[in-house]
Amino acid sequence: MLILGIESSCDETSAAIIKGHTKNKNVKLLSNIVASSLSLHSKTGGIIPENAAREQIKFIIPVIRKALEEANLKSKDIDAIAVTYGPGLIGSLLIGVETAKTLSYVWNKPLIPVNHLIGHIYANFIELNPKRYTLNANIDFPVIALIVSGGHTDLVLIKQHGSITWLGGTRDDAAGEALDKIGRLLGLPYPGGPHIERHAKKGDPKKYQFPRPMIGSKDFDFSFSGLKAAVFREVSNLNYSSSGASAKSRSEFSTSSNNTNLSQQTKADICAAVQKAVINVLVKKTIKAAEKYSAKSILLGGGVAANQTLRNELEASSQKLGVKLFAPPKSLCTDNAAMIAAAAFFNYKQVNWQKIDANPSLYFD
Ligand code: KG4
Ligand code: ZN
Repeated sequence: MLILGIESSCDETSAAIIKGHTKNKNVKLLSNIVASSLSLHSKTGGIIPENAAREQIKFIIPVIRKALEEANLKSKDIDAIAVTYGPGLIGSLLIGVETAKTLSYVWNKPLIPVNHLIGHIYANFIELNPKRYTLNANIDFPVIALIVSGGHTDLVLIKQHGSITWLGGTRDDAAGEALDKIGRLLGLPYPGGPHIERHAKKGDPKKYQFPRPMIGSKDFDFSFSGLKAAVFREVSNLNYSSSGASAKSRSEFSTSSNNTNLSQQTKADICAAVQKAVINVLVKKTIKAAEKYSAKSILLGGGVAANQTLRNELEASSQKLGVKLFAPPKSLCTDNAAMIAAAAFFNYKQVNWQKIDANPSLYFD
């Protein structure tokens, strides 16, 4: 089965074609085109939704054309269309959803609406080599999946394809969102996550002590805004001290101040400590969930899953527990349409195009 996936929930516009193998229960990737408006958002230090939506309009048709071209296929070859219908930015989502509905009607193809968060999990089921089908055939259920992105931090239990139970999520900032805000405070480009990882390599994670919010709580919830506030306070204190604290009051060294007087080493040490704090909490809660639900596999997904230290530490803890860890290739951690098409293949639920609407606040049932 050939599925065209379409993803436009935030600042990436993507179209991909996957070939699903019903017997092997696996998919291989034929094409995955991603156009990102990230450089535009770097200039504004974050995403302005109207700008992101305007970029989606520019890219949507070209990425679909290119995905078909690269897979050497024509529209008539496609068996179904899958599209992200939420969660995300309404303006961005609408572009993908309305395009997919139009194509479904004009080409007369079934349409499958996909939850973006479930898409991130299914990046783990994609075989990158178009000649093979085997990569993740050994993902055994029950699965515990950790979704860590710019907008979400969630733990879910998957008993089998189509049976997903939400266990917990962040009560305030998502892990990626906290990293991005801290990155901004430190004067790093947007999005901060990958830059924090880069600086952390040169830093000492023990130089600063930041809180690990909710690490010991009985539930599977997270909270990262307290960590963010602690880093803001630390940076403000460092700015105050390094200024010589002349006649100025401490309040002038607030979080909005220019932080160029922090040395590269101090920034690296802060990044290392922040990364450690975030990863400690994510790993501890994921392992706790895997233990409680006797998981056979742990799946990682979302943009923050591209972080190598997170992958390494979760791998070490999973091994100790005797559970297999799967993480998508880094190119499939951030937003892409291949994961949307894969999720549709394993959770095939066709819906009449007239009944599909973009839903920015879609979550788990
Ligand atoms: O999944 P994604 O592309 O978009 C959302 O659905 O939110 O995730 C983007 C997030 C951003 O917060 C970004 O800082 C983070 O993923 N991210 C990383 C890394 N690469 C991307 N965070 C930590 N380390 C990385 N290497
Ligand atoms: Zn995402």
